[in-house]
Amino acid sequence: MQNEIMSSLFASWLAITLLYFFLSSFTLSASNASAFNSSRREVITVRRGVVAADDGRCSRIGRDVLREGGHAVDASVAGALCLGVVSPASSGIGGGAFMLVRLASGTVQAFDMRESAPIKASENMYTGNATLKFSGALSVAVPGELAGLHQAWKLYGRLPWKRLVKPAERLARKGFKISRYLHMQMVKTELGIMSDEGLRNLFTSRGALMEPGHLCRNQKLAKTLQEISEHGVEAFYNGSVGLNLVKDVQKAGGILTMEDLRRYQVKLREPISADILGLKVLGMPPPSSGGAAMILILNILAQYGFPLGVSGSLGIHREIEALKHAFAVRMALDDPNFVSVKKVVSDMLSPKFAAELKKTIFDNMTFGPNHYGGRWNLIQDHGTSHISIVDSQRNAVSMTSTVNSYFGAQFLSPSTGIVLNNEMDDFSIPGANSSAGNAPPARANFIRPFKRPLSSMTPTIVLKGEHLKAVVGASGGSMIIAGTTEVFLNHFARNMDPFSSVMAPRYYHELIPNILFYENWTTVTGDHFEVPAEMRAALQKKGHILQGLAGGTICQFVVQELETSSKFGELVGVSDPRKGGYPAGWRQWGRPQASSPSSEESIRDFRHSHQVSDDVVLELIPMDWRPEPGPKETMVPLLRICTAGIAFAFSQFA
Ligand SMILES: *[C@@H]1O[C@H](CO)[C@@H](O)[C@H](O)[C@H]1NC(C)=O
Ligand SMILES: *[C@@H]1O[C@H](CO)[C@@H](O)[C@H](O)[C@H]1NC(C)=O
Ligand SMILES: *[C@@H]1O[C@H](CO)[C@@H](O)[C@H](O)[C@H]1NC(C)=O
Ligand SMILES: *[C@@H]1O[C@H](CO)[C@@H](O)[C@H](O)[C@H]1NC(C)=O
Repeated sequence: MQNEIMSSLFASWLAITLLYFFLSSFTLSASNASAFNSSRREVITVRRGVVAADDGRCSRIGRDVLREGGHAVDASVAGALCLGVVSPASSGIGGGAFMLVRLASGTVQAFDMRESAPIKASENMYTGNATLKFSGALSVAVPGELAGLHQAWKLYGRLPWKRLVKPAERLARKGFKISRYLHMQMVKTELGIMSDEGLRNLFTSRGALMEPGHLCRNQKLAKTLQEISEHGVEAFYNGSVGLNLVKDVQKAGGILTMEDLRRYQVKLREPISADILGLKVLGMPPPSSGGAAMILILNILAQYGFPLGVSGSLGIHREIEALKHAFAVRMALDDPNFVSVKKVVSDMLSPKFAAELKKTIFDNMTFGPNHYGGRWNLIQDHGTSHISIVDSQRNAVSMTSTVNSYFGAQFLSPSTGIVLNNEMDDFSIPGANSSAGNAPPARANFIRPFKRPLSSMTPTIVLKGEHLKAVVGASGGSMIIAGTTEVFLNHFARNMDPFSSVMAPRYYHELIPNILFYENWTTVTGDHFEVPAEMRAALQKKGHILQGLAGGTICQFVVQELETSSKFGELVGVSDPRKGGYPAGWRQWGRPQASSPSSEESIRDFRHSHQVSDDVVLELIPMDWRPEPGPKETMVPLLRICTAGIAFAFSQFA
C-alpha cells in the first residue's frame, strides 16, 4: 500500500509536469487539474448530479433524467428499468428491491419492494424435491420492483412516468449490446438458458449463446414496458401484463395467481440509523439484515479506534471477526411482519452490545463458528444490482435490486419477456441443509404466504450533520454486507479516496463455511484484484482458512466533498470496475435533450491519442459524447496522460 501511494504520488507529479510541458498550447484550468482522481471512466467528479449504476448505459439514462430536472427518485425509476433490460441476469421488474431515499429536506424513507411468498406457498412445498426451490416456475415469488418504483415516483417524482419508462422500452425494442459481464453470467447459466424456451430464444443464435457486443432485442419486454408506460403499474399488477405473466408461470408449474399480484404491497419502513465516526449511517431495516449487520460491524470496530484500529493485517483480522459475529446474530432476523425482530435489531444497533462482542475477539487468533453463536443456516442471492444517485438538490437514492440468482428462476415468461426471480430460494425449509454449510436451517425464515425472505442487501446513505455525505451499496449476495462495509471503512476510517476505496481488494466471510474468501479475480474487463501475499500469510497465522475467490461484490459509491461554505459540494461518483459499468453525471446546467443509448464503440471511435514517447501517451476522450447531434456543452472532453502504465485524467480544461 505504502509503495502504491508513493508511486502514485510520483506519477501524479510526473503527470502534472508532463502536462504543462507538452501542452503549453492548451489552456488548462488549474482548479480542475486537481481532480485527477484517475484516468478511468469508472470515477467522475461533477457538481450537479450523478448516477452510479453498474452499467454505464443506465447511468447515462438516469443522468439525462436528472438533467431534465428530474428528482433522484425519477432517475432511479429510469435507471432501474434500464438495468432490467440490459442486465436481466441481475435485476428487473420480475424481481424485487430495497430503496433508501433521503430528501434534501431531511426526510428519510425505506421502500421495501422485496418479493413475497405467493398465497399458495407453504412451509413444506418443496418436500421431496428441494431443487424446485432454486429454479423454475415454483421458485418464483411475487415480484415487487415495479410497484415500489411507482410508489416512490408517486411521492417524489417530477417527470412524467412515461418519460421514465421510455428509454428502457427503446432499448428493449431497438436492441442492446450484450456486455462482457452479462455474457459471463450467460456462460455460467448456459444449461438453464438452453433448457428454458424464453431465455433460449432471447440469448442464443443458431444454437449457441450470443457473444459480447451482439445486439439483443427483447420485443416482448418492449411491448410490456409500453403497456406499463401507458397504463401505469396497473397493467402489471391488475391488467393484461399480469394476466399473461400468471398464465406463463402456471403453465410452467408455478403457483402465482392474479390475486398475488393484486394484493402485493410495497412497505414503507423506518430506516435504521446509527452515529459512527461523527457521521450518521442510514441503513435498510428488516427484512434486510444488511443495515443492522453493517452497523454492528462498525460499532465493534469503532472500539478499536480509527484509523489505527482497522489498519494493516490486524485491522482486517478484526474486521473479519466482527463480520463473523454479525453473521451469527443476523440469523435471528426476518420479515418483521411475521417475526418479532425488535430485540435483535436494537441489540445490533447498540454500542454496548458491540462492546460485549468485542471482548470475545482475540487479536492473535480466529475461532470456529460455534464461538460466535452461529446456529442457523441461511441461503443467498447473486443476481443483484446496486445504483447510487444524487440529484442537483442533493436528494439521494440508494437502491439495491435483485432477481436472486443469475437470471432468477432461469425462467423467462415467453409472452411478457420478463425474467422471473427465484426469491423463494432465500427462504429456509425444514430438514434441508444448504450446500454451502452444514448448520440447520433458520426457523425464523421458513415460508409463509405473503412473507418476505431475509436479505443481505445493504443500501446505505451517510450524512454529516444535516448534509448528505455519501451513498453506497453493493450487489453480490451474502457478501454484500462485507463488500459495502469494507468500502465504507476504506473511505471513512482508512482515509482512502472514493475510487481507491472501491478498487481495494476485498475480503469475505460468511461464518459458515468457516472460510475467509479473499479476492483473486481477473474481471471481464481485464482488471486484476488480488489480496497481497503478505496479508494472506498474516491472516493464515491467526488461524484463518483462506480461499481465493474469482468473484464477489460490485459496489457503487458516491461521495459529496463538503465544503464549509456551501452544502453543495463536488460529487465523486464511482461505479465498480468489476462489472464493467461507469457512472454519469453533469457539471453545469445544460439544455435538456433526448436521451439515447450510447455504445462504447462509438466513444472509442472519437478518441484521439498521440504517442509522445515510448511510454507517454496523450489521449483526448470526449466523455460525454452522444450519438445524436446535441448542444456543444454536452461534449466534455477529457485529457488523459498515460505514463508507465499509469494514467491520469484532466477533465474540463477550457
Ligand atoms: C425435481 O424436479 C426437477 C425439475 O422438475 C426434476 O428434473 C427432477 O427429476 C426432480 N427430482 C426428483 C427427486 O423428483
Ligand atoms: C383491478 O381492476 C378492476 C377493474 O378492472 C378494479 O375494479 C379493481 O379495483 C382493481 N383492483 C385493484 C387491487 O386495483
Ligand atoms: C492467544 O492469546 C490468548 C491469551 O490472550 C491465549 O490464551 C491463546 O492461547 C493465544 N492463541 C494462540 C493461537 O496463540
Ligand atoms: C444438517 O446439518 C446438521 C448439523 O450439522 C446435521 O445434524 C443434520 O443431519 C443435517 N441434515 C441433513 C438433512 O443433511
